Amino acid sequence: MSTPSAAEVERQADRVHGSGLSARLYDPFLWWGEKSGLSKKRDRLLADARGEVFEIGAGTGLNLSHYPPDIERLVLSEPEHHKADLLLKRAAETGLDAQFVRASAEALPFDDDSFDTVVATLVFCTVGEPEAAVAEVKRVLRPGGQWLFIEHIRSDRPMVSRIQDGLARPWAAVADGCQCNRRTIEMIEAGGFEVELTSVADKALMPPIARPIVSGTARPVTV
Ligand SMILES: C[S@@+](CC[C@H](N)C(=O)[O-])C[C@H]1O[C@@H](n2cnc3c(N)ncnc32)[C@H](O)[C@@H]1O
Repeated sequence: MSTPSAAEVERQADRVHGSGLSARLYDPFLWWGEKSGLSKKRDRLLADARGEVFEIGAGTGLNLSHYPPDIERLVLSEPEHHKADLLLKRAAETGLDAQFVRASAEALPFDDDSFDTVVATLVFCTVGEPEAAVAEVKRVLRPGGQWLFIEHIRSDRPMVSRIQDGLARPWAAVADGCQCNRRTIEMIEAGGFEVELTSVADKALMPPIARPIVSGTARPVTV
């Protein structure tokens, strides 16, 4: 794979849709989850961010206050216009020195080996072509780089995963395309990463259909 053209980056970003209403409702929707543990998870995860850092699908910027001050560079991306507006506003308010690119995970406007750390939190449930996105993360990470993630994944409890399968379509319709039954960890591993899970939470951080929530680090497997 090679660096996508500017036209391809724009084409892929334009495929991600969202409304002003859902962008404004995002923080209130997550308020309880953040208070009851998600915010702490962001803190713990991002304490490991180092070097040049790139965040995918940064949304309204709920990670911004959790980045350690000693990272060398922070590049934020968000394809959806309404969330991007809120992200830029929050970045300005926090005074964080960050660059912004409008891009989707399937086509990242960077050369190979550009970053030491890639961050994605609660993103891979929504990405349209997740395998292509995993390949892009691998491409832009330097050798020895790390991908820090928090994702909600398919439950391994059969009764819950059956409910996730049954409600997948209506849930996606109300939750901006979020797929509650994705086997995201298996997909990351199949894309050539070694995954270390640091936490698995099945508590009330998110609605039951969007649990468990896992945090961890994925490192490219070298052959
Ligand atoms: C559930 S929100 C998570 C936002 C933020 N990362 C957080 O932790 O709060 C999912 C985000 O992924 C973005 N997104 C959707 N499809 C995407 C894609 N193909 N590539 C990158 N980001 C995408 C959405 O616009 C949204 O901001």
